[in-house]
Amino acid sequence: MVGPRRQPSRRGSMADVPHDMLQEIKRLEDMFTVDTTKLKAITDHCVSELARGLSKEGGTIPMNPTWCMGFPTGHETGTFLALDMGGTNLRVCEIRLPEEVGEFDIIQSKYRMPEELKTGTADELWGYIADCLQQFIEYHHEGEKLDQLPLGFTFSYPATQDYIDHGVLQRWTKGFDIEGVEGKDVVPPFQAAVAERGVPIKLTALINDTTGTLIASAYTDPEMKIGCIFGTGCNAAYMEHCGEIPKLEHMKLDPDQLIAINCEWGAFDNEHKVLPRTPYDVIVDKDSPRPGQQAFEKMIAGLYLGELHRLVLVDLHENPNVKIFEGQDISALKKPYSLDASFLSDIENDPYENLQETHDRFESLLKIKCTKPELELIRRLAELIGTRSARLSACGVAAICKKKGYKTAHVGADGSVFNKYPHFKARGAQALKEILDWTVGRDGKPLGRGNDPVEIMPAEDGSGVGAALIAALTLKRVQEGNLAGIRDPEAMLRGTKAEKRGSKEVQPNK
Ligand code: BGC
Repeated sequence: MVGPRRQPSRRGSMADVPHDMLQEIKRLEDMFTVDTTKLKAITDHCVSELARGLSKEGGTIPMNPTWCMGFPTGHETGTFLALDMGGTNLRVCEIRLPEEVGEFDIIQSKYRMPEELKTGTADELWGYIADCLQQFIEYHHEGEKLDQLPLGFTFSYPATQDYIDHGVLQRWTKGFDIEGVEGKDVVPPFQAAVAERGVPIKLTALINDTTGTLIASAYTDPEMKIGCIFGTGCNAAYMEHCGEIPKLEHMKLDPDQLIAINCEWGAFDNEHKVLPRTPYDVIVDKDSPRPGQQAFEKMIAGLYLGELHRLVLVDLHENPNVKIFEGQDISALKKPYSLDASFLSDIENDPYENLQETHDRFESLLKIKCTKPELELIRRLAELIGTRSARLSACGVAAICKKKGYKTAHVGADGSVFNKYPHFKARGAQALKEILDWTVGRDGKPLGRGNDPVEIMPAEDGSGVGAALIAALTLKRVQEGNLAGIRDPEAMLRGTKAEKRGSKEVQPNK
């Protein structure tokens, strides 16, 4: 039997929560709430850390130059492959960019990314990816004689790129832990696995999901300034002027030339100077495959939200002063990572006043029978963790806007947390308003629906269309002789349609 549907306001719902538990809820509220003053302090520290990442000395935030030089015009054309190595799926797409401005056609196949692969060997990883590419080509182009197809490979981990078709993995994130890959260029073993199978593919660009998101969204929206992912991991990319990047000074690039920077802001505050970490954040970090890394990401990203919730519940159960799940076997809840972000989403989405759905989920998944006050605590905790995630995310966006002096901007965002977590967008927008002290809307009229000066909005498909666009932009500039971040221009065009069409003589224009 289910109770009545919840009213939008939750005021008064704590009426039957006993005193000790109310006190506990208050303690959690204090711990997980980030007020406006703190949001501003975090943002300001982030602004200086973004700049430090671009400096010659470098900083904690990697600020990786991606060699994606400038925005698309909407006039990009050609046929491209895109490969997205995500956490759960592997996606292969073929994208055609036709003459029509801002248009595209896409065919795609998804392959499951087996969980064992994430902690297996490098050979297994590259072999599996190459098998999927081979299957895709065989299925969609059976019996055809193909030119080498240019590929944009979305590899969403921090990588140092000396060239656009090069990327030394700085460190695995998001729970990946494959030995022998960190510190090495991921492109040669990938290409070797592809060549071994005779797949007609030429890797044109190795890209990050955030850069793909930025470029795909900018393809149809000239206001687009930042690309973000709020999913299993979290991160952002934006366009920087080469003149603002001291660590590239030795390359003598045109100071007005734009280059996309993959911030890798997940690493923000690894030194723990400003983020309000709770004891639970400390445990998440300590028990992760890379302790000390991705401090910001571990407080925000989908991979960690459920785990934080679980750690709090276990801690409360073990605290003799708080009577929660008393006398019950909580062994299922004790399993690390047994709750994921969708579990939290479901709690926040529970439409019933008596939190019936949450009650049933705890019973079926964790074999725990919750009382009404316990359900209220569970619900409030999910709100606190989800709200903190959205508010801290806004600090990163605000920091980039402050650094670049953007008073207005569109920010393209993708990822499961952004797309599916209840209220994430509204909570993030509220935090941006507090940080950036808006008094009027983008159009000078009072703030209201749809006129926030900086708006975080759903992005276009970054790892499909974005990857194809970056491959197209790269080939175009190679043909035009703009060779920043291009290792071997002739090799890049060799065997592709672009070579057959004939290119202007390739000459560096630095
Ligand atoms: C990775 C980034 C990526 C982000 C979102 C992080 O863990 O380090 O490269 O953009 O996740 O997928």
